[in-house]
Amino acid sequence: MIHFDPDQKIFRLISDRSVSMMAVHPAGGLGFLYWGKTPAPEVEQGFTQEWEEKTRDITPNTDLNMVRRDFADFGHNDLRTPAYLVELKDGSRITEFHYLSHEILPGKPDFPGLPSSQVLSEDQVQTLRLTLIDQPTGLEIDLFYTLYPHRDMLVRRSRIRNKGTQAVKVLKFATLGLDLPPEDYHLVSFGGAWARERMFQERPLLQGTVRLESRRGISSHEMNPFAMVTKGRASEDQGEVFGFALAYSGNWLLEAEVHQTGWLRLNMGLSDFGFQWFLAPGETFTAPECLMAYSPSGFDAISQTYHSFVRDRVCRGKWAQKPRPILINNWEATYFDFKHEDILRIAKTAAQTGVEMMVLDDGWFGKRDKDDSSLGDWFVDLRKLPKGLPALSKEIHDLGLKFGLWFEPEMISPRSRLYEKHPDWCLHVNDRERKTARNQLVLDMTRPEVRDYLFDTIGRVLEETQVDYVKWDMNRSLTEVGSPSLPPERQGEVTHRYCLGVYELMERLNKRFPNVLFEGCAGGGGRFDLGILSYQPQIWSSDNMDGWDRLLIQYGTSFCYPALTQGSHIGSSPNQITRRESPLKWRALLAMSANLGVEADISKWSEGDRKELAGYISLYKEIRPLVQFGDFHRLEAPYDFARTAWMFTSRDQKEALLFIFQSTPPQGPGVKPVCLRGLDPALLYQIKGEGAAFTGEHLMSDGWLPKEFQTGRVPTLFHAALYRLQAGN
Ligand code: GLA
Repeated sequence: MIHFDPDQKIFRLISDRSVSMMAVHPAGGLGFLYWGKTPAPEVEQGFTQEWEEKTRDITPNTDLNMVRRDFADFGHNDLRTPAYLVELKDGSRITEFHYLSHEILPGKPDFPGLPSSQVLSEDQVQTLRLTLIDQPTGLEIDLFYTLYPHRDMLVRRSRIRNKGTQAVKVLKFATLGLDLPPEDYHLVSFGGAWARERMFQERPLLQGTVRLESRRGISSHEMNPFAMVTKGRASEDQGEVFGFALAYSGNWLLEAEVHQTGWLRLNMGLSDFGFQWFLAPGETFTAPECLMAYSPSGFDAISQTYHSFVRDRVCRGKWAQKPRPILINNWEATYFDFKHEDILRIAKTAAQTGVEMMVLDDGWFGKRDKDDSSLGDWFVDLRKLPKGLPALSKEIHDLGLKFGLWFEPEMISPRSRLYEKHPDWCLHVNDRERKTARNQLVLDMTRPEVRDYLFDTIGRVLEETQVDYVKWDMNRSLTEVGSPSLPPERQGEVTHRYCLGVYELMERLNKRFPNVLFEGCAGGGGRFDLGILSYQPQIWSSDNMDGWDRLLIQYGTSFCYPALTQGSHIGSSPNQITRRESPLKWRALLAMSANLGVEADISKWSEGDRKELAGYISLYKEIRPLVQFGDFHRLEAPYDFARTAWMFTSRDQKEALLFIFQSTPPQGPGVKPVCLRGLDPALLYQIKGEGAAFTGEHLMSDGWLPKEFQTGRVPTLFHAALYRLQAGN
């Protein structure tokens, strides 16, 4: 819970396994005193004493580089990276915010228009609001610290208010800024590219500044807005880990600066790239929220914290807690070249193999025979689908399947009816060339009339056709970011306003179609973030379904995002992007480790393959509750011994699923047993089909190696297996 000590002027935010502390120093500034495991009394005394000594006599000459700060300012003698930057009327950028007031509120304030994790009564959530003021200008900053004490989650947000009489320009405004004391820190980030999203990357933090960011207008394939700082190198069960997950889908930034003193400064929030917010008197600007979690014991524990929080508090709506249907998608099966009969043929075969939903991907609208036209024209193409969408949907429902449809709402093709009618509706700057990517331009989502058009046209399709699912795609970065509908002084706001516009449209469609399951997508996993997840409870994690690459992608994704939020499909072999072959079983077990789907023309598969696929689908139906709602544990990383293992356990620890992926025949250390996690040490687990039973204690400390993975026995490259564990007495 949150306590304030008026003598020391210290705020203590105490959760079940961690504590964070902020303090006001006598000169009025704010300090971030501590974050970590509950400190022993003598440890706490140590750093509070040090804080008092350092801050007692703060004078204008005190070197603030030596002081632990929270949301640090710019322009004084703390020369480290500031959390914000404001340009005043006279052109100066120097401000100094001092403590004004605070309040400890029950629950969490509402911030309409931005993703916001929910609060349930059992959470016993409290929010500390600290208000700071820059006296000469009358600017105020509110810092919010919302504590979920039993979930060990601290949600931070910031807000700036112009209570002065003159307009200012906000040039940078992070969500949080804090300092951590000297240590051998490492930074774990999830970088990548299209078809290679969220690769686990780890680097020591040496003196200097590391910037992780997106400048693409979406959270990006290039770098995911989730990162961790560890003390030394952490492993799955060892090392202190500090996590930062930003609930935002546009340009973002994390700065990690190791100062000459060894102190680590961390800021996270909106990117300052091309950013400027004009703040007139009376106006307020609110930053997105950031979810901060701490683990005293490695990555596994921090992933558990994020997984359950994301599943239960970030994802909203009817589908958030519902098992997700097994879908088949026609994209890699047909690309743009399909007719009514092709979709029906795929759907029929899929229904026979146990699939539950047919998703019609790109190409059903306008005159879209390739990727060079029709985005924005959300009217069915009667050349391809002469009976129309409602009839197709009905025929698919008659097969016992649900029906899903692809949209790319935020885009406009220069070759489209929409562009002919509204050439000014795309993001652009007058008299500058509009650069296309994938032959398309980006709609100006800052404009209400554009959002209304999309709400009406997409809404009409969803109303007329029985649509159970929507894949919401977004296939390019923002360039020539400008909106002639905004005045010159507000052009620096366009990227953020774009993102707010997207959220607004998503929210309106969610409200109007509460039964529709929305899946986010951006050229695969280019917008896999908590912002999207709070509107759309699952995301297509990558266009790349190749056996090896996908293993790395799902491994990286799993650090923050639970399996329930990841769409994963069984594609064809050889893979259509990498041309690499991998066995069906391998591809199936990978996809079955998340929300299972299929993406191939299985009507053209051999009878044998279809039968095998049907077997996986029926097995998935049995294990789905465990995969989608159980606890996920990484056991072995793909990078170590060509063997990856992970598992799921039920909440009562009575059931478990063990997945092993051996990418080359094992050699040397590859044959060591796999040590399991998350079991009850005292229970005896039967391993189905293996005729073996071991205690949880044995499986976790000594491990177990199935016969088929012992030296010389693995028959092929890419050998995968799934074992089901059931606790007896
Ligand atoms: C993106 C998506 C794919 C597919 C295509 C269609 O690349 O990630 O899954 O929908 O667009 O154009």
